[in-house]
Amino acid sequence: MKNFWEKLEKPFFVLAPLANVTDASFRQHIIRYSRPDVLWTEFVSADGLCHPVGKQALLQDLVFQENERPIVAQLFTAHPEKMREAAKIVAELGFDGIDINMGCPDKNVMKQGAGASCMKDPENAVALIQAAKDGVRDAGKDIPVSVKTRLGFNEDVLEEWLPKLLSAEPAALTLHARTKKDMSKVPARWERVKRAIEIRDELGSKTLIIGNGDVTSMAHARFRVAETGCDGVMFGRAIFGNPWLFDSARQGLTAETGGITVAEKIDAALVHTEMYLEHWQGRKSFELMKKFYRAYINNFPLAKELRAEMMEKKSFEEIKEIVEKFKREHPEVLSEISEAKYLL
Ligand SMILES: Cc1cc2nc3c(=O)[nH]c(=O)nc-3n(C[C@H](O)[C@H](O)[C@H](O)COP(=O)(O)O)c2cc1C
Repeated sequence: MKNFWEKLEKPFFVLAPLANVTDASFRQHIIRYSRPDVLWTEFVSADGLCHPVGKQALLQDLVFQENERPIVAQLFTAHPEKMREAAKIVAELGFDGIDINMGCPDKNVMKQGAGASCMKDPENAVALIQAAKDGVRDAGKDIPVSVKTRLGFNEDVLEEWLPKLLSAEPAALTLHARTKKDMSKVPARWERVKRAIEIRDELGSKTLIIGNGDVTSMAHARFRVAETGCDGVMFGRAIFGNPWLFDSARQGLTAETGGITVAEKIDAALVHTEMYLEHWQGRKSFELMKKFYRAYINNFPLAKELRAEMMEKKSFEEIKEIVEKFKREHPEVLSEISEAKYLL
C-alpha cells in the first residue's frame, strides 16, 4: 500500500516542526486559514518518551486532531534502542509518519549526541532510521520514516552524508540548506538542494527530497521547486504572523489581489490567542503566546504602539479591549494592506 508521502501531489508544501511554536493549538489555528500539505509536531525527545515520568509530560506534545492529517511526529535521540521504543509509541498514537531530527543546533539536544550531532556519526544515523522502522513494525503499523537534516555540521558534506542517509531508505528527507555552523546567519544554499536531487537520482533512490530555508511565500516556494526540482518545500519562520501562508490566493499586494489587511492581521492575533487559551490555559503561560504578537502586530502604521500596549496586558479581555479601542480610533489604518514580515 502507498504511504501518505507517495500519495501527495508534487510539488507539496509543508509546515516545519518549530519547537515552542507548532503545538496542537498553533496547528489548529493555521489550518483555519490555510492548509499545508503535511504538518509536523514540535520535536520530542525519544529518551524522554521512554521514561515513565517524561512520557506523561511529553504526551501533551503529541496530541493531534483528525483534521491535521497527514501529521508527522518528530523525534530526537542518539540511541537506536530509545528510537525504536519511542517510534512504537508514536505509531500507536496514530501518527501518519515519524520524522527524525538530525539538524537541531540546540546545545541541550546536541550534547546528547542527537539533532545536528547525528551528522558526526553517520553509522549511528543509519541505525536510528532502521530503529524507527523497527519500532513502527513492533506497533504492527506501516507508517513511513523520514529525516530532517542539514548540509553538514561544520562543513558541507552533502556528497557523503546524503548517500549514507539514503542507504537507509527514508521515505522523505528534508534538507535545510545550511550547515549547523552556519546557524541562520548565511542565506540557505538552494543550489545544494538541486545537487541533492541529482545525488538522489544518480543513486536511483526513491526518497522524496524537501528543500528548506528562507522561503517566504508560495510564489517563492514554486520558484525554488522550478530551480531545483525538489519534490516539496518546507516553510518555517514565514508562518509567523501569516497563517494565510499556504493560500496562494491571499498573497497579493492589494485587497483586490488578495493582500492581507491590517484588520485581518489584528483579528488573526486574537483568534490565535483564543485558540491558545482554549488549549493551554492553566498549563502554559500566557506570556508564551504574546511572543507571536511581534509578528502579527507589525509592518503597519502605529503597530509598534499597539503592540507595546498589548504586551503589557495580563489577560485576553484586556487585550481585546485595547484592540477594539485601536480599531475605533484608527479606522483608516484597518483597510491598509500589511505584508507579513517574519521576525526572529
Ligand atoms: C523557533 C524555531 C523552532 C524550531 N524547532 C525545530 C524543531 O523542533 N525541529 C526541527 O527539525 N527544526 C526546528 N527548527 C528549524 C526549522 O524547522 C527550519 O528548518 C528552519 O527554521 C529553516 O527554515 P525557515 O528559513 O523557513 O525558517 C526550528 C526553527 C525555529 C526558528
